[in-house]
Amino acid sequence: MNRKKEQILSCIQPTGEMHLGNFLGAIQNWVKLQNEYHCYYGVVDYHAMTMPLESNMLRQNINRMLIDLMACGIQPENLFLQSQIPEHTELGWILGCITPFGELSRQTQFKDKSQHLEEIKGQSITCGLFTYPVLQAADILIYHANQVPVGKDQEQHLELARNIAERFNKLFKCDYFALPECLFTEIPKVMSLADPIKKMSKSLGAKHYIGLFEEEGIIRTKVKTAVSSAGGNSGKISPGVENLLGLLHTLGSPSVYDELLNEELSGRLRYERLKEAVSDTLVEFTSRLRNKRESLMENEVESIERVYDSSQVIRQVAKQTLAEVRDIVGLSVMRQTKTNFMGIK
Ligand code: TRP
Repeated sequence: MNRKKEQILSCIQPTGEMHLGNFLGAIQNWVKLQNEYHCYYGVVDYHAMTMPLESNMLRQNINRMLIDLMACGIQPENLFLQSQIPEHTELGWILGCITPFGELSRQTQFKDKSQHLEEIKGQSITCGLFTYPVLQAADILIYHANQVPVGKDQEQHLELARNIAERFNKLFKCDYFALPECLFTEIPKVMSLADPIKKMSKSLGAKHYIGLFEEEGIIRTKVKTAVSSAGGNSGKISPGVENLLGLLHTLGSPSVYDELLNEELSGRLRYERLKEAVSDTLVEFTSRLRNKRESLMENEVESIERVYDSSQVIRQVAKQTLAEVRDIVGLSVMRQTKTNFMGIK
């Protein structure tokens, strides 16, 4: 395969059921990138341990995410499970030792999540949550990834990863780590069905999102009860209708979209009809994914084992990086006995 030289890497936390917003906002793009680039995609189970967890739930969520990603079209050979590659945490430790405490304290995601934990009685804010972005930097740098497809919310973490890479290169007078950049792509905004001024999210509750593998009947009910008119007589398209039209635009037939948009603009659109068109589109689209998922589930253990196998292959790259890093920072005897991997005297 003729691949461009960029190394793409992105990761997702195993959070359970994936929804349409996750798919259209990220995973669909990951799938496409596989055709052109060398891609690494990780399920970051160590990151999932930074918030309160329960072991059975974690196990279930990990397995579910691996299967779901493959059902979406992520090739198993591009997929790894973070905890199968312990070099991530080892590099995380080394990088943590060159990361200023102050810079980590300024991470807004840490501030938001720790505030959230404080509001839940009895939950402590852990060191893992604090050093989360260092492990994330290790995930990226260990494969020398230079393009990282992420959402805007990860921009600060990526900036930190770049700073860590630069600091490492400067401190050890080497040009070792590639400086990773965010890869932002134009993505459709998918809003909550029940509260269309908010982003589609599972934490808002079941009626707010469409699960990617949800049953037809449930999808139809959710779309039927979606908020569709809240725009008043301002002459503007209401957020709910805009969201439904947006889904049609992204996943449906262009001619149906054009027709319904024109009707809306001239004030003739019956929302029942819009919802029916959206339901049909979603049901058709998700049924393909559901079928693929079902076939993977027929042999669940074997399907999941494919990712364990590919993790071992991908691990070889991580091992090589670790050997080089250990050498650069002075942890191995290699430097005295052999020419340094990087040719540094
Ligand atoms: N922090 C990311 C998120 O919550 C997940 C993540 C972990 C990640 N490691 C990564 C994303 C490396 C990109 C690259 O979405």
